[in-house]
Amino acid sequence: MSYNFDKVLDRKPTNSHKWDVGENELPMWVADMDFETAPAVTEAIQKRLSQNAFGYSIIPDSFKESIASWWKRRYNWEIEQDWVLFCTGAVPAISSIVRKMTNELEQVVVLSPVYNIFYNSIVNNNRTVLTSELEYKNETYAIDFKDLEDKLSDPATSLFIFCNPHNPIGKVWDEKTLQKVGDLCVKHHVLLISDELHCDLTHPGYQYTPMASISNEIANQVITLVAASKAFNLAGLQSSAIVIANEEIRKKVDRGINTDEVAEPNAFAIQATEAAFNYGEDWLHALNHYLEENRQYLKASLENHCSEIKMVPSEATYLAWLDCSNITEDTTFLTKYIREKTGLYLSEGEIFGGNGDKFIRLNYACPKTILENGVQRLIKGIQLFEEEME
Ligand SMILES: Cc1ncc(COP(=O)(O)O)c(C=O)c1O
Repeated sequence: MSYNFDKVLDRKPTNSHKWDVGENELPMWVADMDFETAPAVTEAIQKRLSQNAFGYSIIPDSFKESIASWWKRRYNWEIEQDWVLFCTGAVPAISSIVRKMTNELEQVVVLSPVYNIFYNSIVNNNRTVLTSELEYKNETYAIDFKDLEDKLSDPATSLFIFCNPHNPIGKVWDEKTLQKVGDLCVKHHVLLISDELHCDLTHPGYQYTPMASISNEIANQVITLVAASKAFNLAGLQSSAIVIANEEIRKKVDRGINTDEVAEPNAFAIQATEAAFNYGEDWLHALNHYLEENRQYLKASLENHCSEIKMVPSEATYLAWLDCSNITEDTTFLTKYIREKTGLYLSEGEIFGGNGDKFIRLNYACPKTILENGVQRLIKGIQLFEEEME
C-alpha cells in the first residue's frame, strides 16, 4: 500500500502546540510530525468514536499483547504481559518514578546533551541532576565511562535516566555500550530508566537493541519506557507503557503511577496504540523511508549551501542535530535571530545541556515542500547572521 507523506496538513485549527506560531512562521522544533498518522490508527479511533460512549476505560490484555508481540517480532525482546503497565505518557512516568523511587536528598544521572524534559522531571521534584557529559569528537558522541562510573558510584546517586535512541543526538547505542551501561548500574545498585520512545524511528540499516534484552541481571534493574507516540505521532493521545521485569520494582512503580493518577487511559489511547503495533508496520516502514529521503535532502542542502553547519550523522529519530560551532558558541541567540529574520522556529541546543549551546535541533518530519521551505529559510538565516557578524 502507498501512503501520501507529501500531503500538507493545516494543523493550526487543531490547537497544535507545534503550530502555535505567527502568520508566516514555520515550526521545526518540538518532536511532533506533520504527517497524517497510519490509516489503521485512524480507523481504530473512528471505530471507537462510533461507539458513542466515553466513560472510564480499562487496560485490556490485548494492549499488553500488542506491545509484547511488536517487541518480540521486531527487536527479539520477550516481554511477559504482566510486566507491562499503562501510563499517560513517558514524561508522567519518569516524574512519577523519580518521586516514588528516589528521595529528595538523592541524585539522578543523565548523559548530556539529552531530552530537556528529563531535567524538569528531576528538578521539579527537588532531586539533583548529575550530568555526565558525552564526549564529542569528529561529529560523533560517545559515553565517557570513567566519568559515568564516578557519577553512578556516588553514594547519593540512586537513579540513571538513559535514552536509547538518544534524543537529540540521534544515536542508537550498540550492544557493547548497553552492556557496559547496564553493568555499571547493577554494580553500583543504581536503578535504570531506559527511555526507548524513539526506537521505531531507527534509520534503515541500523539496529536498535532494547536495554532490558542485554542480560537477565540488567533486565532485573531496568524500567523501560515505550510508546507508539513518537513513530505514529500520537503524543496528544497520551498513551505509553512502562515495562518492568522485576516484580518488586514494578509493584512500587505501579503504586506510584496510581497515586499520581497517571495510570488510566482516555477513551482512545488503547485502541490507537494497539492499532499502531498490530497493523501499523507497513506504514512505519514507508514513513522511515520518507524520513530517510528528507534527511538526505537536508544533508545535501547544507553541504552545498551552508557547509559551515555540520549535521551530526544520526542513526535514529527525525531530529537533525546541527553543529554550528564554526559560526557561533551561542545558538540561543542564533535560533532567535533565525526566527526573527526568516520565521523558522528551531530548538536551541542549550536546553539539552552539555555542549548543546553550539547546536540547533531541526525536526524534518514533514512533507518535502515544507522541508524545502524550511531549508531555504535556514540557509538564508545563517547567511544573514554571518554577514551581520562579520
Ligand atoms: C526521549 C523522549 N522521551 C519522552 C518524550 C515525551 O513523551 P510523552 O509525550 O509520552 O510524555 C519525548 C518527546 O519528544 C522524547 O523525545
